[in-house]
Order: sequence, then C-alpha cells, then structure tokens
Amino acid sequence: MFKKVDISIDFLGIHLDSPFILSAAPPTDELEMAERGLEEGWAGVILKTTSVEGNPVDLKNPMMSSFGPMSRKVVGLGNIDLISHHHIDVVEERVKYLKKKFPNKMIAASIMGASKEDWQTLVWRLKKAQVDLIECSFSCPQGSMGEEPGKMLAQSIEATEKVTRWVKEAADTTPVLIKITPQVTDIVEVAKAVKRGGADGITASNTIPSLTGVDIYTFEPYPTLFGEGAYSGLSGPAIKPITLRTIAEIARNVDIVISGNGGAFNWRDAVEFMAVGASNVQFCTLPMHYGFRTIRDLRSGLEHYLKEMGFASPMEIIGRALKNIKNQEDLVKPETRSEINYDKCIGCGLCYAACNDGGHMAISWDSELRKPTVNEDKCTGCAMCMQVCPVDAIRMKEKLDSKVHYFAERR
Ligand SMILES: Cc1cc2nc3c(=O)[nH]c(=O)nc-3n(C[C@H](O)[C@H](O)[C@H](O)COP(=O)(O)O)c2cc1C
Ligand code: SF4
Ligand code: SF4
Repeated sequence: MFKKVDISIDFLGIHLDSPFILSAAPPTDELEMAERGLEEGWAGVILKTTSVEGNPVDLKNPMMSSFGPMSRKVVGLGNIDLISHHHIDVVEERVKYLKKKFPNKMIAASIMGASKEDWQTLVWRLKKAQVDLIECSFSCPQGSMGEEPGKMLAQSIEATEKVTRWVKEAADTTPVLIKITPQVTDIVEVAKAVKRGGADGITASNTIPSLTGVDIYTFEPYPTLFGEGAYSGLSGPAIKPITLRTIAEIARNVDIVISGNGGAFNWRDAVEFMAVGASNVQFCTLPMHYGFRTIRDLRSGLEHYLKEMGFASPMEIIGRALKNIKNQEDLVKPETRSEINYDKCIGCGLCYAACNDGGHMAISWDSELRKPTVNEDKCTGCAMCMQVCPVDAIRMKEKLDSKVHYFAERR
C-alpha cells in the first residue's frame, strides 16, 4: 500500500496541510462554499475581496466567458466580476466562524480600499476577527479603486509602496500578501516596491486584462451582456506561462515570499510554480470548473511525486529550477539536429509542412512511402518539427564529439 507522504508546509509562519489554497474568488464568496472547500481538504481559503460598508459594488451579469477549441473547452476563463458584494461586516463574522470551526486551516481574507482610512480599517477589523493572513488586491483588472481611475494599483510603483506601507502599519504582525498584476513593464520594480513597503509576501499574480472574443456575426464582445461587453480578467491554463515567468522573474531578483496564482490546473502545474520560486499555490478556475474535489488529486499527485523524487517535503521543490533559468545571452549554444523515430512515425506529413514553410526546408517528403527525411546539413535544430508531431516521433539530438546527447522528447 502507498505510504502517506507529509505534504504539509510552513507558509509565513502558518502551518498548511498542503501547499494548495483557494484564492479570493467565487469559491470563497459564500460561507457555505468556503466551509465545503475546507472540508474537502483545501489547506486554506482567501475569502473573496471585501471592502468597507457603503462602497458600491456594481456587479453585472452574465459575467463569464471562455475560450478554447471551438469555444467548448475552457482553456481560458474571462470574467467581469469585481470584488465581493459582501462588505467587511459580513466577512469579519465569517472569519471568526471559520477560524473556530477549522482551527488548523488557514483562514485569510482579501481586501481592497480607496483611501488610507479604508485600507487600515479593513485590516484592523480583520485582525480583531483573528484572521491568519491578509491579502491585498492591487490588481483587479476590471474596475479600479486605486488612485488613478482605470489603472490598477500595482501598475504604479509609488502607489504600491505607499499603500503596502499603510496596510503593513495596521497589520503589524499579521502576515500581508500583496496581489499584483503581471501587466506591467517591469515586474521586478513592483516586487521591490512591495518589499520596501514592508509586506511579508507577494501573490503573483491576478487575472490578466483581456477580451476573450467577439461574435463575428453580431459583433458583440464576450462576455456579452445582451449586446455589449467590457474587457475581462483572463484566468485558467491560458495564463500559466505568463504566471510562471512572473514568479520566476520575481524570485530571481527579489528576496520575498511568493504565493503562486494564475493558471495552475493540476499538481504538475503547482510543482512548476514552486520550482520557479512559489512557496504555495492558489487555485480558482480549476475548482470553479471541476469542483472542490480536485484537491484530492492535487494532494495525491504531489504525494506520489515527492516519493518518486525522494523529497522529504514540498518545501524542497521551492526554487529548484531557478538555477537553470538564464538570460538569453548567457545560454550555451548546442549544435542540435532533429531526428525522426520511424517506429513511432505515422506518416502524417506535419513535420514536413512545418519545416518547409516555418523551419529551414530541411525535411523532404516521400509521397509514395509517406515518409519524412531530415537533411542534417540544412537542419538548424530549431525544433519546430518536434512541436507539431502528433505522436512525439521527433526528438532533438546534440552531437558531442562522437557521442549523441538527446533532449529526451522534452520540449
Ligand atoms: C470570477 C472570478 C472572480 C474573481 N474575483 C477576485 C477577487 O475578488 N479578488 C481577487 O483578488 N481575485 C479575484 N479573482 C482572481 C482569482 O483569485 C485568481 O487570481 C485568478 O483567477 C487566477 O487564478 P486561476 O487561473 O487559478 O483561476 C477572480 C477570478 C475569477 C475567475
Ligand atoms: S529542427 Fe527545424 S530545421 Fe531541423 S528539421 Fe526540424 S523544423 Fe526543420
Ligand atoms: S510529424 Fe511526426 S508522425 Fe508526422 S510525419 Fe513527421 S515524424 Fe511522422
């Protein structure tokens, strides 16, 4: 029988029974849902972003759209949701209730204010309710409560530092995470501002401003409110590569704790987030799409992975890939060529088409035999053919003297 592996971690002094938490979003916006999520096994919740009483929250529905092959499968989710319509009076009661019922889970809350007084009031009230951690949304892409209308707070270095300082001043020993946006020129400067402001960590990142689609017959943007629409925040697998880069870039340049968020859809994604520097991983679109039960597979996948790798704790994963991420100019220059495994090749011709019109015309095509052949003198080793082969019959090889080193079917 599989022996249980300990996947618990320490995150900013908080014990988490796994690195997986529910991010500030609809799954944590109703008390019963947050409870069910915790019961199912999530290590903690960040209650959906709340604000001071009297702050108008003007939600518009329908608020979701998606995109994927034939718009059927959700590869990306666009939403025009804003913050929670539950104000701080409701959220502080929820924090007290959840903390009592789940003393061993992380009960966190997300806040957004429009003035120093708002931000600090929200923090004081949550502290009094015994919240474990406060996350500050500096990055809601659809609406703005920042200093400059239309601009996300974390797009201003000065505002980021100033508001972080206000929050941390009020939070004192309660850990504070600042949730930033990847939609900036230099993410490192934003992370440095968060650190200067005194926050304990960064959540990297939020949804990304997007327009998920336009109906080409009615010219309605998606999500459409019966004809009209607005830009939406993109989440889900479509944004994972952007999040990975954002986490890595912060981790390579700023010594600050990172909570990874944005596009993780399975335990492997979570391991990748941690490998480039995240200390834990938040999920939203995955449980929204497939339900809270997804935590079971996340946990079991991570347990098996740790065992296979001989790691004693998920904390051993954190930052392990960073040493291999280099600036382009510092990369070595391997002499690579593509190689076809004819035992696997099904003769589809895709590699020929891709190389002929998008590579270096190095693959010839025998239409009688339906067989591709690589001309090694013309091949530059760009790996375009490898990306399109539907059966992974192509791999890249590097010639080192008389030996051949393969990039074993890895992309
Ligand atoms: C419908 C919806 C509402 C959201 N509301 C909030 C919010 O109130 N505050 C916040 O900080 N992030 C909010 N988010 C962003 C998520 O917390 C998360 O950062 C984002 O979806 C990326 O993670 P994912 O790819 O795992 O979904 C929302 C996301 C969605 C899809
Ligand atoms: S590696 Fe590039 S150049 Fe070589 S065969 Fe493949 S597509 Fe053509
Ligand atoms: S793409 Fe792959 S399967 Fe298709 S012809 Fe090329 S090597 Fe064979």
